[in-house]
Amino acid sequence: MLKSYLNLLDHVAIIMDGNGRWATKRGLPRNFGHKAGIKAIERTIDACLKYKIKYLTFFAFSTENWKRNQEEIDGIFQLLRDYLKENPNYFTQKGVCVKHIGDLKPFPKDLKNQLVKTENETEKNKNLVVTFALNYGGRDEIVRAVNKVLKSDKKEINYKELEKNFDTNFLPDPELVIRTSGENRLSNFMLLQMAYSELYFPKVLWPDFDEKELLKALKVFSKRERRFGGIKQ
Ligand code: IPE
Ligand code: IPE
Ligand code: MG
Repeated sequence: MLKSYLNLLDHVAIIMDGNGRWATKRGLPRNFGHKAGIKAIERTIDACLKYKIKYLTFFAFSTENWKRNQEEIDGIFQLLRDYLKENPNYFTQKGVCVKHIGDLKPFPKDLKNQLVKTENETEKNKNLVVTFALNYGGRDEIVRAVNKVLKSDKKEINYKELEKNFDTNFLPDPELVIRTSGENRLSNFMLLQMAYSELYFPKVLWPDFDEKELLKALKVFSKRERRFGGIKQ
C-alpha cells in the first residue's frame, strides 16, 4: 500500500512553521525553537531517504522574514552555518545532493560561500535532492524570471519557457506541500509550482515533526484524488 502511493510522489515540499511557538511554550527564546527545527530537518531527511522520496524542499527563510529582529535573523544564519559545516561528510554519507532556491545576494558572504561549497561537494549524490529555500519568495522568483526573459530577445513566451527561468528549474513541481503549525496559508512559497499540489496542514509544530508525522502526510496524500482539471478515472 505505502509502496504504491510512494510511486506517485517524487517531491515533498515543506513550509517549516512553528519554531517560535515551540520555544515560547517552553519559556525559551525563539532561537531555541529554530535549533530544535534543525533536528527535525535531519529526521525528515532520514525519513525521506527511507521512503525513497527523490526531492525534499524546505522553506527556511522567506523574503518577508527580514522583518524579524536582527538577533533572530543572525541566530537563524548561525544555525545554518553550523549545520552545513558541522560534519562535512554528513550529506555525502547519506547520498544527499544539497541545493538552494532564492536570492542569496543579501546573505553574509561566508554563509553564501559555505552553501556553494556544500552544493559543489554534494552535486553528484544521487539518493535525495534536498533544497533549502533561502531569501525565497514566489513573487520575487516570478519577477526575477520575467526580468531575465525581458533581457533576452524573446517577445512572447509560454509557461514552459517562463518556468525555465525559475530558481526551481532543476525540480519537478511538488506533488505534496506540507505546512506545519496549523496555519492554513502559503506565505509566498512556490506559488506557481504548487498550482496542482496537494496541500496538507498538520497542527504539529515544526520542531516536533518526525517520521511518524511524515507517514501521516503520505497517508493523507494517498487518499487524495488528483484530477488536474480532468474527470474522475
Ligand atoms: C518557522 O518558524 C521558521 C522560520 C520562518 C524561519 P517561526 O519562527 O515562523 O515560528 P512561529 O510561527 O513564530 O511559531
Ligand atoms: C513562512 O513562515 C516562512 C518560512 C517557513 C520560512 P512565516 O512564519 O514567516 O509565515 P507567516 O508570517 O506566518 O505567514
Ligand atoms: Mg511562523
